[in-house]
Amino acid sequence: MSAKILDGKTLAKKILSELAKEIEQIRLIKGRSPGLAVLMVGDNPASAVYVNNKERSCLGVGMNSYGNHFPGDIDQSIVIEEIEKLNQDPKVDGILLQLPVPAHLNATEILYRIAPNKDVDGLHPVNLGKLVRAEEGLRSCTPLGVMKLLEEYDIELDGKRVVIVGRSILVGKPLSLMLLEKNATVTIAHSRTANLSEVTANADILVAAVGRSGLITPSMVKPGAVVIDVGINRLSDGTLVGDIDFAGVFQVANYITPVPGGVGPLTVAMLLLNTFSSYKILA
Ligand SMILES: NC(=O)c1ccc[n+]([C@@H]2O[C@H](COP(=O)([O-])OP(=O)(O)OC[C@H]3O[C@@H](n4cnc5c(N)ncnc54)[C@H](OP(=O)(O)O)[C@@H]3O)[C@@H](O)[C@H]2O)c1
Repeated sequence: MSAKILDGKTLAKKILSELAKEIEQIRLIKGRSPGLAVLMVGDNPASAVYVNNKERSCLGVGMNSYGNHFPGDIDQSIVIEEIEKLNQDPKVDGILLQLPVPAHLNATEILYRIAPNKDVDGLHPVNLGKLVRAEEGLRSCTPLGVMKLLEEYDIELDGKRVVIVGRSILVGKPLSLMLLEKNATVTIAHSRTANLSEVTANADILVAAVGRSGLITPSMVKPGAVVIDVGINRLSDGTLVGDIDFAGVFQVANYITPVPGGVGPLTVAMLLLNTFSSYKILA
């Protein structure tokens, strides 16, 4: 058997081109374009690539991008002051703090200062609380992207056994809640999970969100499973890979996401969709 590819890149392009058309129409009525502010602290090269990509994507759909790049030794109070300004700025519909931030900063405190209705990364406790309660609100972009991909390919979730490897607040935890909402039976595995292979081999749908290349090997995957790779790892030769042994698991799974070109492009598309939904309410 060889798997079918869940093509996040093509889906993201489609979503962004529809979004560009919607923005084109609505901006004349609202009298302004949507705006996203991306804050970055320091010179983490991976973050710089992500920020660049987000800003370029904004412009591509007709959104304004208000980037702010702070030096790595910036004081917490200055970042918070900037966030307070952006919270009040009527041109700004979404605010995103690119993570990770340098260790001297308290990322949680900064994230809590973003106005919940501009929290396009869905990390404010108000938005996370709404997710727990299955209420509408801004939701984390990467898990949203995974859900969009599953929906696009008509992957049935109701009653299915899903295993997510990784329990971060950015990916694993919010994704588990979104899948529960769709009536999946969800297990979350992590670094202390005993017999990880036994757990993953039970999954109809397996999601890896760890950050370790080659973690998921073919023997850990149930034949015919849907396999989603959220991980992004750069090998010593510069190649980007996920957490899944793609070539091996490709022979076992029914569906698989590539890295790059799987979940990553959808994360950016969901960020812009979140910004657009704030804009529709705020503008
Ligand atoms: N595609 C995208 O757009 C996108 C977006 C966000 C993140 N990512 C990527 O996704 C990956 C995860 O990101 P994150 O922010 O969630 O990372 P994170 O906060 O470091 O969380 C990693 C999770 O993996 C678990 N883990 C670590 N080693 C493990 C092992 N050997 N077996 C099982 N579980 C293990 C950790 O368990 P403990 O909790 O026990 O420590 C933790 O829950 C990274 O590669 C990141 O670059 C991609």
